[in-house]
Amino acid sequence: MRRQRLFFALWPDARIRKALARLTCALPRCRGRWVHELNLHITAAFVGAVDANVHDCLLARAATLDAEEFALVLTRIGYFPRSRILWLGADQCPPALTDLVRQLNSCLTVCGFKPGIKPYRPHMTLVRDASPASTDIQVAPVEWSVDSFCLVASQTLPQGARYEILRRYRLH
Ligand code: 2AM
Repeated sequence: MRRQRLFFALWPDARIRKALARLTCALPRCRGRWVHELNLHITAAFVGAVDANVHDCLLARAATLDAEEFALVLTRIGYFPRSRILWLGADQCPPALTDLVRQLNSCLTVCGFKPGIKPYRPHMTLVRDASPASTDIQVAPVEWSVDSFCLVASQTLPQGARYEILRRYRLH
């Protein structure tokens, strides 16, 4: 099997995607590459390129997590100047999400991968290569009851990223 670029993510369902589409339509148009509505997600733990052994290990280990459902209120627009990303996020990271990320990072370690060292900042990328944007924008909150997470494979194609959900895992 060829190497795959993997990450664990919170993947919105159709209802949340609709609410996100309403939210993004209402934002001022800034310059940059807007992420397609069907690609919007929040990365919980980034893995990177892996071979079949690590892939199998992650698939199996993720099924053993004991993580709880949580509510995520997406209400904040932010901008990362270094990566030029305009994002949507929560004012507060729910403790259950922090715990899920901790457990996923342990999975990565068990499967021979080093988790990133940067502190986790949950965000949904809305625009890449975004021109510096004002983040002083009021948005109607999107209230998302997160009851699962996914292992996702990504491919970078000339027309943009293509994501494939490999498996969805229920939270308790
Ligand atoms: P981004 O949206 O902030 O770029 C697929 O590429 C997903 O993995 C995206 O959500 C991306 O976050 C995230 N990602 C890519 N490289 C990463 C890295 N080195 N560390 C953490 N997350 C990363």
